[in-house]
Amino acid sequence: MTWSKIAGTGGYLPERIMSNKELEKMLDTSDEWIRERSGIKRRHIAAENETTADMAVAASRKAIEAAGIENSDIDLIIVATSTPDKIFPGTACIVQRHLEIENSPAFDVNAACSGFLYALDIADRFIRTGGARNALVIGSETYSRILDWTDRSTCVLFGDGAGAVVLSAAEEPGILSTHIHANGKYEDLLHVPAGISSGYDAVRSEAAFIQMKGNEVFRKAVGTLGSIARETLSANNIEKKDIAWLIPHQANLRIIVATAKKFDIPMEHVVVTVDEHANTSSASIPLALDVAVRDGRIKRGELLLFEAFGAGFTWGSALVRY
Ligand code: UT7
Repeated sequence: MTWSKIAGTGGYLPERIMSNKELEKMLDTSDEWIRERSGIKRRHIAAENETTADMAVAASRKAIEAAGIENSDIDLIIVATSTPDKIFPGTACIVQRHLEIENSPAFDVNAACSGFLYALDIADRFIRTGGARNALVIGSETYSRILDWTDRSTCVLFGDGAGAVVLSAAEEPGILSTHIHANGKYEDLLHVPAGISSGYDAVRSEAAFIQMKGNEVFRKAVGTLGSIARETLSANNIEKKDIAWLIPHQANLRIIVATAKKFDIPMEHVVVTVDEHANTSSASIPLALDVAVRDGRIKRGELLLFEAFGAGFTWGSALVRY
């Protein structure tokens, strides 16, 4: 039987850091409000000419190096993003060109903040059924481009960045299970109204920016993340105490703390990057994973629980033996 395992991780954050203090100068907000309500202290913002694909490539190079393989060994590329470089080709094809990889399938997945877990689910299935041996699974976002910088209820919450993993075929399980869901009826609570087949001419009007009913999203997120964690534990017949690390989507520290509490996971076993990165949507889980792998907190053989909730609504989880 073939399984998939995380062979290497990589992350990339743009050089420019924007602090809450800087936002105070632009908006009727305060460092105190942002910290108290979201846990965010600062975020990284992509340079003017820096794109989702550029960041994805930088994170991928590190993940490939950490996996100890060559670019040419990659035979599947999936980019989770809701901020692609172009309408087409997919950002994954642009990444493929930069990495000088040829012939592998390369495509994007848009499941907003849950995108990385959707991409991981797909790549795991490819590997387990023999369709790929080394998949590059990336989350990369430039949300700074879809923020209304005059709307204090949304623009303080997001940042840019990319995270990547190489998922490789293995004889022992790495990815133990993945669980992904969606419920499209909540579309209006968190969305960017303008798209291609609808509202394309509205681009650069307010319809082109994120709109969110924050507290309704908050309530739904806390409830749903609790149930997806329960679903994951029972599917694998394991107990809360077996989880070494919770690596949640980084939207809001209060959501993370509430979820950890429900699962009796002490905060010392939760990877938190929302303070430094803000919400980087589909990049947040692979970025947080990379941070904790590189600083030595996460060790080989440990059991990790990933979970995410985002626009759609979409939500998902993965139980991983690192
Ligand atoms: O990643 C995808 C999923 N996204 C999420 O999970 C985000 C979920 N939601 C949240 O994280 C939180 O709801 C927020 C951080 C967005 C907001 O926190 P909240 O505790 O739910 O605050 P609120 O929206 O109820 O707003 C409270 C007050 C309002 O003022 P009034 O109406 O009570 O006078 C807002 O106008 O805070 C005001 N406010 C601000 N004040 C200063 C909203 N944004 C700001 C701001 N600075 N940036």
